[in-house]
Amino acid sequence: MSSADSIRERDARFVLGTYTRAPLFLSHGRGAEVWDLEGRRYLDLVSGIAVNALGHGDPLVVAAIHEQASRIAHSSNLYFLEGQGRMAEILCRRSGLDKTFFCNSGTEANEAAIKFARKFWYESGSAWRHEITTFQDSFHGRTYGALSATGQDKLQTGFGPMLPGFVRAELTIESLRDSVGAHTAAVLVEPVLAEGGVIVPDQAFWQELAALRDRHGFLVIFDEIQTGLGRTGDWFAFPATGIVPDLVSLAKPLGGGLPLGAVLVGQRIADALKPGDHGTTFGGNPVAVAAGLAVLDRLAQPGFLDSVNEVAAHLQSGLAALCRPQGPFLEVRGRGMLIGVKMSVDPARIIEAARDRGLIVYRAGADVLRLLPPLVLTIEQADEALAILADLATP
Ligand SMILES: Cc1ncc(COP(=O)(O)O)c(C=O)c1O
Repeated sequence: MSSADSIRERDARFVLGTYTRAPLFLSHGRGAEVWDLEGRRYLDLVSGIAVNALGHGDPLVVAAIHEQASRIAHSSNLYFLEGQGRMAEILCRRSGLDKTFFCNSGTEANEAAIKFARKFWYESGSAWRHEITTFQDSFHGRTYGALSATGQDKLQTGFGPMLPGFVRAELTIESLRDSVGAHTAAVLVEPVLAEGGVIVPDQAFWQELAALRDRHGFLVIFDEIQTGLGRTGDWFAFPATGIVPDLVSLAKPLGGGLPLGAVLVGQRIADALKPGDHGTTFGGNPVAVAAGLAVLDRLAQPGFLDSVNEVAAHLQSGLAALCRPQGPFLEVRGRGMLIGVKMSVDPARIIEAARDRGLIVYRAGADVLRLLPPLVLTIEQADEALAILADLATP
């Protein structure tokens, strides 16, 4: 194995510099713990940005990957893939939606969702109905459709022009109202705006969205790429909004650490799509699907989500106890294991200091510390994280 220095040097020399990498050289992990090349242990409360729902090295996920890879690693969507049907059935039954399209990532899931929404209106004889409303501070991905949908100027600057047909609203009732009308094909929204700062829209916002949808008839697409599959303490975050979506995009934990995305759609959307309308070579790859099926099995185990909620509540209340008007930690927000702590200082300071003490945490937006623990985090591990953060909570 290479040393940290040689890894860093080769990375700087040959890997395109689109990332600011933290000085962490991870070697292996187990559950919520990871070890670096020198054998130093860390508690991982980032989970590969909400991907490793079962933590590192879950035995069922590892076995599923081995077993599937040793039989057939890839065959394409030209042929039947048993695992896709099994996963699609679970996702449809759990969400109440009717059909699943598989892809490889979050941004691709949103690309597909946007295409499907527009195709639905085209097939309904209303091709002029093509506008997609999205929100300030949202994040939907880096490819052109998803980037055009994303409500963050800094991510779009230099890559213009963005695609036409996207309307950006503020996350307020008035702005939402102004942004939709007869030309609105769909409203695309995260149930909790994760990357944008762990922002939880209030119930009045969702009620207004429901009322506007009744009036104008547009589709609702929930981007559950970060909130879905246990992260907010339930299979999906959308039921808490009171809105039944027409489409839901998923990715992150769906492939058990391997790249996998999906879009769930209602029957009338499915009816607007026929063979050849959309596709991908790798989407729904058998190994990623096998790994993801192990994740879904664990989510379905009696008591699993209860325990996620118990540990999440413990962590959130422990963090709330560290908040002081004059301290670095001001306010805790989020849902379940998607937790933000609004800060009075640059979160980078806390992220570095926590790492020095063996705790991995991350940020969201300019001033929010973000915790995305694996769903298997224990109360003892939550207490270990809280003790480290308490140390850093002094003004
Ligand atoms: C809500 C949301 N949508 C879309 C994406 C894009 O996913 P990916 O990075 O897999 O393309 C992300 C990634 O952070 C996300 O959090």
